[in-house]
This record gives sequence, structure tokens and C-alpha cells, in this order.
Amino acid sequence: MKNIVLIGFMGTGKSAAGRRIAKRLDMRFVSTDDMIVKREKRPITRIFTEEGEAYFREVEKEAVKEAAAMDNVVIAAGGGAVLDEENMSNLGSKGVIVCLTASPEAIYERTKKYKTRPLLNVEDPVSKIRELLEARAPFYRRARYQVDTSDKTINEVAGDIIGIMKK
Ligand code: S3P
Repeated sequence: MKNIVLIGFMGTGKSAAGRRIAKRLDMRFVSTDDMIVKREKRPITRIFTEEGEAYFREVEKEAVKEAAAMDNVVIAAGGGAVLDEENMSNLGSKGVIVCLTASPEAIYERTKKYKTRPLLNVEDPVSKIRELLEARAPFYRRARYQVDTSDKTINEVAGDIIGIMKK
């Protein structure tokens, strides 16, 4: 089977669903964010504050390339990875790309308890979510499959994606 690549905005459930799918299909789960943290030996918030977003995107590009070359994996790509053309072509080379979506409200509810996402550590995170969603919509739309996770459990999302893969 091809790799499964989950893209989508922060808080759409890529990691949670990805882990569940990997378990059910006996595949390995990899997250580009986790690869970056491991490589950099510091959390994403620190990479952003100490080096800036451009540096983070460079490291992300390497992580995406490495993950995309693996076999039998479910990949959760960081929410902004889609902005880079090369990332998308790498991810699509061995994988079926599925975009997870969610309403701004659902995204806010899921992300507000964590301070791990530098782009949302702002005064008005809801406006920021709307702004980023709008700017990124054309990129997320490029995925062949879209799964709205707003009102679904992790199991339901995983089931939908496994269904897509078995089509
Ligand atoms: C980002 C999403 C994050 C992480 C970083 C930037 C983005 O990943 O890569 O904070 O630009 O949307 P998740 O989508 O896993 O939260």
C-alpha cells in the first residue's frame, strides 16, 4: 500500500488520526514536527523564537523529504508544510495525500490548551486562525481527498481515511 500523508491546518487531528490509522493498518506513524524537534533538540516554539520561521521551514523541508522517502508510513505533515511546492511533490511521490479540515471554532477549541504552536501564541488566536486558513485554503484544497473532522471522533476520522485507502 502507498504511504498515507495527512496535511491540514493545526488542530485538525493529523497526529491523533495518523497514530490511530497506523495502529489499525500496522504501519508506522511519523510526524514531521516530531522529527524536527528531535533533530533540533528543542521545541518548535524555541526554534521560532531563536531562529525565526524561515529557518524552521528549511528544517521542515528536510524532515518532509526524509519522511516522504520512507515506506509503509502514515505521515502527519506540519500545517504549513503545504506552502512549499517541493514538499508537496515529495509527499505525493509515494503517498496518497489526504487533507483534514475543521471549522475555525473547532480548531480554536482543540488548540487553545496548548502553547506549543508559535503561530497561535498571539493576542487574538481566533482571528489568526481565520486569517491563516484563508491564506492557505488554495494549498489545502490541492489534496485529492478532504475529510472534515469538526464533528468526528478520532476513530471516525481514521475510519474515513482507511475507507479512502481501500477504495
Ligand atoms: C505550523 C503547524 C505546526 C508546526 C508549526 C507551524 C503551521 O504543526 O509545524 O507550529 O505553520 O501551520 P501542526 O499542524 O502539527 O500543529
